Amino acid sequence: MFNNFTLQNPVKVIFGKGSIAQLPKNIPANAKVMLTYGGGSIFSNGVHEQVINALTGYDVIEFGGIEANPTFETLMAAVEVARKEHVTFLLAVGGGSVLDGTKFMSVAIPFEGGDEWNNIVKRKAKYGEALPIGAVMTLPATGSEMNSIAVISKKETDEKFGMGHPLLYPQFSILDPETTYSLPKRQVANGVADAFTHVMEQYLTYPVGAEIQDRFAEGILQTLISVGQKTIANPEDYEARANLFWAATVALNGWISVGVPQDWATHQIGHELTALHGIDHARSLAIILPHLMRYKLEDKKEKMIQYALRVWELSGTDEELVEGAIQRTIDFYESLGIPTSGKAYGIGDATINEIVKRFEERGSAFGEHGDIDAKAASDILKMSI
Ligand code: NZQ
Ligand code: ZN
Repeated sequence: MFNNFTLQNPVKVIFGKGSIAQLPKNIPANAKVMLTYGGGSIFSNGVHEQVINALTGYDVIEFGGIEANPTFETLMAAVEVARKEHVTFLLAVGGGSVLDGTKFMSVAIPFEGGDEWNNIVKRKAKYGEALPIGAVMTLPATGSEMNSIAVISKKETDEKFGMGHPLLYPQFSILDPETTYSLPKRQVANGVADAFTHVMEQYLTYPVGAEIQDRFAEGILQTLISVGQKTIANPEDYEARANLFWAATVALNGWISVGVPQDWATHQIGHELTALHGIDHARSLAIILPHLMRYKLEDKKEKMIQYALRVWELSGTDEELVEGAIQRTIDFYESLGIPTSGKAYGIGDATINEIVKRFEERGSAFGEHGDIDAKAASDILKMSI
């Protein structure tokens, strides 16, 4: 059944060439701004300079070094500085990791309860306050620019958890496709694969007669299939960059998840692979999804057939369509240079046993039927190696 839903997405998206210049219209003039960034890509591609020029006259401090898969440890160092300096506005400049990390900081800075890992990331405490955030996003992938999710890692324990809360929406996100020209091919491929998998998590479940969400999801998938290769072949194709950016944003901004069942088991298992093996987020997903599709073939059959017919425009018997759906998904990841087998990363029994242990301890059960538990995760991982 098409489920009831409430949708409220407050993010102001400022999209297009030269849009970084609009920063001053969107940050209060008397703000004490903390500009957060990652490993330095914003210096080599000129984005830092554009931001600093736009912020002439503002009181700005900077915190750099937020890693890919942002760590609690680094973020708490940033939180300490922000508290000491009485920062009032956070501006994340970079990819999903910088923005996710900044979202965590926005809640952690005013939080007075201590133990921020358990209380904030693992949601043991209620929090009702957050500093405002703006973003200059430079990597189409996560959709973090228009959602209220952050994914945080902990170095000490090799853990990775997602957190979601309405306070985590950025106030605005600036998306200038030209800032993405400098992305290495590997990151473009990762971004396409991540956004593709976001759509699959919300689409490839079972039909509930949600026509708009289905057609919209299929349109995003087809767009990603087409612009991914175009972008890799011609990094300065503005139109391809713009379409890729907007596709990645709407893949996880709430529009296609309303009223429909969702899976997310691929992401949950993938997070464990990143936490334990340091595998790039998008790459961890490609190790799981095709095998999960086969494992859940009966439950997902109707949607797999729809996906084969509408997204890949295949024809044949139901069995041929289901096989085609799995094979095209594998071919898609592999065409981006992303392996679809755990073997490529040396994943073996030790990793699988650790993931089973974690899922059992947490009582985890994901998927649209809530049945991807420790045993199912183990079966899927074994199919992948
Ligand atoms: O750190 P710098 O030097 O900036 O370099 C980054 C990093 O090395 C580089 N980069 C970013 N923009 C660039 C650039 N290099 C050149 N030119 C540019 N314009 O790319 C590398 C990867 O950046 P990162 O931010 O880690 O990538 P991504 O945006 O894919 O974010 C991944 C993180 O987001 C989480 C993932 O788990 C992972 O931690 N996710 C967040 C979600 C959300 N908030 O909704 C959902 C996703 O499923 C995902 O889990
Ligand atoms: Zn993802």
